[in-house]
Amino acid sequence: MSTFEYEKLIVDIPDYPEPGVVFKDVTPLFANPQGLAAAVDTIATHFIHHGITKVVGAEARGFLLGAPVAYRLTAGFVPARKPGKLPREVHQQSYDLEYGSDTLEIHKDALTPNDKVLIVDDLIATGGTCVASAKLVQQTGAQLVGFAFLLELAFLHPREVVHKEFDQEIFSLIHVD
Ligand code: PRP
Ligand code: MG
Repeated sequence: MSTFEYEKLIVDIPDYPEPGVVFKDVTPLFANPQGLAAAVDTIATHFIHHGITKVVGAEARGFLLGAPVAYRLTAGFVPARKPGKLPREVHQQSYDLEYGSDTLEIHKDALTPNDKVLIVDDLIATGGTCVASAKLVQQTGAQLVGFAFLLELAFLHPREVVHKEFDQEIFSLIHVD
């Protein structure tokens, strides 16, 4: 499973969404039954003995991977959503993207200090999204266990950004140097 050739199912789209940016299109990987299973199972297997009770995934692509990983870990799934989408009281965190900036929100009562949390997303680029997600988890008082991604754009050095504030493990299936 861990030797699956994910790269063949991730398509580079030059100059999208703006000139100079190479967009990594992971939709063919999600559309491939073996690819999806390999990605979900490899991440879940890696964290199976960590006592994860909740997976947090950021809207939108974090939902695609986070929910099946949560299911595999027999954990719950908690969404970190873009502003105005969650109906009850929220914690809020702004962050910078590879292009632009945004804000994420989480329901205040979605996690408790007893929860052990894995943050899952399709991609880590600058690290802004996952640091914001981690700060949201921190605001709830829950314990952050680690981060898991399909794809790590290592040439942007996101580990350095994350490890300035969080020392938890970062597990990525593919590294782009
Ligand atoms: C993409 C991707 C990650 C984030 C990674 O999400 O799904 O969440 O960028 O970049 P970063 O490490 O520089 O923060 P995007 O905000 O484009 O939105 P989407 O998930 O709704 O497509
Ligand atoms: Mg995203």
